[in-house]
Amino acid sequence: MRRVLVTGAAGLLGQYLVNFLRSVEAVHKDISILAVDKANNPFESSFELDYLQADLISFDSIKSTIDNFKPDFIFNCAAYTDVDGCEKNKQLADALNVRLVKNLLEIHSFKKIIHFSTDYVFNGLNGPYSEEDDTDPVGYYGLTKLQSERLLQNSRRYFLIIRTNVLYGTGKNVRPNFITWMIDNLRKNKNLQIITDQFNNPTYAGNLAQAAIEAAQTDYTGVLHIAGADYLSRYQIALKTAVHFNLNSELIEPIRTQKLGQEARRPLFGGLKIDKAKNLLKTRLIGLNEGLKLMDNY
Ligand SMILES: NC(=O)c1ccc[n+]([C@@H]2O[C@H](COP(=O)([O-])OP(=O)(O)OC[C@H]3O[C@@H](n4cnc5c(N)ncnc54)[C@H](OP(=O)(O)O)[C@@H]3O)[C@@H](O)[C@H]2O)c1
Repeated sequence: MRRVLVTGAAGLLGQYLVNFLRSVEAVHKDISILAVDKANNPFESSFELDYLQADLISFDSIKSTIDNFKPDFIFNCAAYTDVDGCEKNKQLADALNVRLVKNLLEIHSFKKIIHFSTDYVFNGLNGPYSEEDDTDPVGYYGLTKLQSERLLQNSRRYFLIIRTNVLYGTGKNVRPNFITWMIDNLRKNKNLQIITDQFNNPTYAGNLAQAAIEAAQTDYTGVLHIAGADYLSRYQIALKTAVHFNLNSELIEPIRTQKLGQEARRPLFGGLKIDKAKNLLKTRLIGLNEGLKLMDNY
């Protein structure tokens, strides 16, 4: 029996992970899942699940739960993912993105931790980046995620760091992601200013969840980039999304990063090279058009 703990289980990636693990459980019956998040259980009306509603900042409250559960794998999706928010609320960014990982590493009752990080650990001067490229974050979110990576790398634990970027998909009560935010606003006929000079590979969170579960079961340790197959600017992503969902692309105004005045600095040529993951995994990493099709009922 594999015992799997998912933190941040009510978030976008967390929900896809739990759903995918459930589908594996339905076939193999050898997985026991414990989901943790500070939000309400989003799966409550769909299926029964061991779900602990807890604030991971007050870590002592869940340490005994983890000790009792003795996970084989922890998928750590809990994070402070608001990139601009991290600049304004550095304490919260430190607590969730760094201290939580430190606390988890002090628990000895799990075998392997799978932690999610970001292309924002790079400065964006010459992306997309490979796993071996030098890190140099330009914003606080990226800095905290890099610190979390270092904690894992300096530990003697069995770990996998999965870097990803621009997650999209649907989930119950999840915060809007770039694609759902655009669809929602274009449906309301709102004008949007979308950046032409920030590049990443948009990643369907369901595809990442499947690939992450496969990667966790390999012997691969260290950093692995798992992301979508297309390297695109936000503006290109916006246009493709508008076309796919039959929305008015004339509402999308191109704008350069310098003019938009976002709170946090962001890497411009960010994004991730995914050759290692392609070689390692059977799960095919899909492009934007395929991901958008999987969101057709949004
Ligand atoms: N989204 C992206 O584009 C992206 C890109 C690169 C890497 N990543 C990484 O991928 C991982 C998953 O991202 P995601 O987009 O799925 O994030 P998400 O939707 O923001 O989910 C994070 C979850 O953690 C929960 N959480 C926050 N504070 C908590 C606390 N104190 N105690 C317990 N739970 C708490 C959140 O609850 P609340 O919503 O109630 O706060 C949320 O349900 C993160 O590590 C992120 O850094 C994401």
